[in-house]
Amino acid sequence: MCGIIGIVGREPVADRLVDGLKRMEYRGYDSAGICTLSGGQLVRRRAEGKLANLTREVAEHPAPGEVGIAHTRWATHGAPTEQNAHPHATGEVALVHNGIIENFKPLRDELLALGRKFESETDTEVVVQMLSRHIEEGKSPAEAVRTVLPRLRGAFALAIAFRQDPDMLIGARLGSPLVVGYGEGETYLGSDALALAPLTQDISYLEEGDWVIITREGATIFDVDGNEVERAVTKSGASAAAIEKGNYRHFMQKEIFEQPTVVAQTLRSYVRQLERTVALPQIDFDITSINRVTIVACGTSFYAGMVAKYWFEMFARVPVDIDVASEFRYRDPVLEPGGLALFISQSGETADTLAALRHCKEAGQTIAVVVNVPTSSMAREADLLLPTHAGPEIGVASTKAFTCQLAVLAALAAHFAVKKGRLSKDEERAIVDHLLEAPACLNAALDHDDDIAQMAHLIAPARDVLYLGRGPDYPLAMEGALKLKEISYIHAEGYASGEMKHGPIALIDDHVPVVVLAPSGPLFEKTVSNMQEVRARGGKIVLISDAEGIAEAGEGCMATIEMPKVHPLIAPLVYAVPVQLLAYHVACAKGTDVDQPRNLAKSVTVE
Ligand code: M6R
Repeated sequence: MCGIIGIVGREPVADRLVDGLKRMEYRGYDSAGICTLSGGQLVRRRAEGKLANLTREVAEHPAPGEVGIAHTRWATHGAPTEQNAHPHATGEVALVHNGIIENFKPLRDELLALGRKFESETDTEVVVQMLSRHIEEGKSPAEAVRTVLPRLRGAFALAIAFRQDPDMLIGARLGSPLVVGYGEGETYLGSDALALAPLTQDISYLEEGDWVIITREGATIFDVDGNEVERAVTKSGASAAAIEKGNYRHFMQKEIFEQPTVVAQTLRSYVRQLERTVALPQIDFDITSINRVTIVACGTSFYAGMVAKYWFEMFARVPVDIDVASEFRYRDPVLEPGGLALFISQSGETADTLAALRHCKEAGQTIAVVVNVPTSSMAREADLLLPTHAGPEIGVASTKAFTCQLAVLAALAAHFAVKKGRLSKDEERAIVDHLLEAPACLNAALDHDDDIAQMAHLIAPARDVLYLGRGPDYPLAMEGALKLKEISYIHAEGYASGEMKHGPIALIDDHVPVVVLAPSGPLFEKTVSNMQEVRARGGKIVLISDAEGIAEAGEGCMATIEMPKVHPLIAPLVYAVPVQLLAYHVACAKGTDVDQPRNLAKSVTVE
């Protein structure tokens, strides 16, 4: 949600700021803006909509200067207009913000009563006005920041420029991520290491409540109590090349096709191929004492968690609770001693998931995270870090992160079961063998890309689409529906196939395509019976199954999508591919913005 960057440089910064925003556009694309310091003035350029508009604006009206800040916005308070675009500024202070200032109303009233004038509808502008007031009263930038920060409630990462001090910037974070980057005679601020990838690999991750003064010489960091502190400098390893589309039309398409490689890459950290055993990172707690697992996540990561619930219960016989983070944190969940709280997140920064993690930590749970960004807040706050190795995921619709999450979760469930004495050596070997088959099976699933592209026109005109699945294919049905709605804007729902006749079947007519996920296996016949109930009522079926399943039940379907025959354990990974491709090709057929669908952002760092 919003990306920010700041540069105290030795050369003009405008182009580099815009370039940095390009690498963060996935965080929000409602508007963008920059502000540089030049000739004793704050020079601001802003534009509504995609970054291309700002690029044009900066080309037409250059912003000179070697120090500046920039922002790409996902709107929270105030419409996505130029007036509400960051940076927000007075004559003295300009500021970019990622997060939400929850107490902005009383602060705004207080400032209005003092006669200050606002020009936007945003929560952010109160911070600029408060800082400006203190600067006008004669405080230094550092004193002004030190006075204002304790008054802000909510979440923020800030980068602030001061007219009176053109050779430095101040950054601050609470609840939203912010990193400091160290270059050759230059220093940077960024929402993440990726934003700074071409500028530097030397990064410090600010901790909650930290604020920082950056100059060309480096950074001086203060903690929440105002004490000067050191934060370790680490090599980020982020690569700007990883966020190129290559020969693909969209990032989403590239990321779908990367799955065989990144799942194999991820599995390498979780299985020992020669010994055919699962292998987890060093665990500093007694896993056998875990008596309950609580899984919390959002969106696609939540559906990965739902699949994992089946595995944990089936292999390890441990009870699993699962909830979406936004509900979990406010329902006062029962968290008994001996519980493992497992958080799943691509970004590791999703605000609700992070808040739930902190809640569970306070409640004495052991914290495990499955996360794709190893330097994220969740990764840093976990007792057990289980990284996925999917590489940067840029398309807003999550694809490769999902299949990598499933790979890690399957290995974790098996490890749990081994430690609890619930799996024999042979059973463990069989699980490892099946997991190692996954990359090849993903490749075989991708071979059907053309067939799926051919049939997308059958779905593209629909107003509603239903997805059905049973067992671990039920969460996958919901994932398929989520993919379709977020990038094609077609209303879609995923149901447990046996639940259809308890209500949703009333929706069936010949305008509602029903996508049925039914790999042949123990649940096939049950799912097919539910499918026949739909067909008997005129429903148009798209059956996704293997050759055997299609031979048995494909007749009379509007379309079939053939998958390789796979073991039920890896079916959720393999069947993710056709639902991703179907959504992708339908979106292409409709001409929507696949990588940056309307109203969404990749990393949801506000509640
Ligand atoms: O970064 P996270 O995995 O925590 O993000 C969770 C959701 O915001 C995310 O999965 C979202 O639902 C995707 N856009 C789905 O494609």
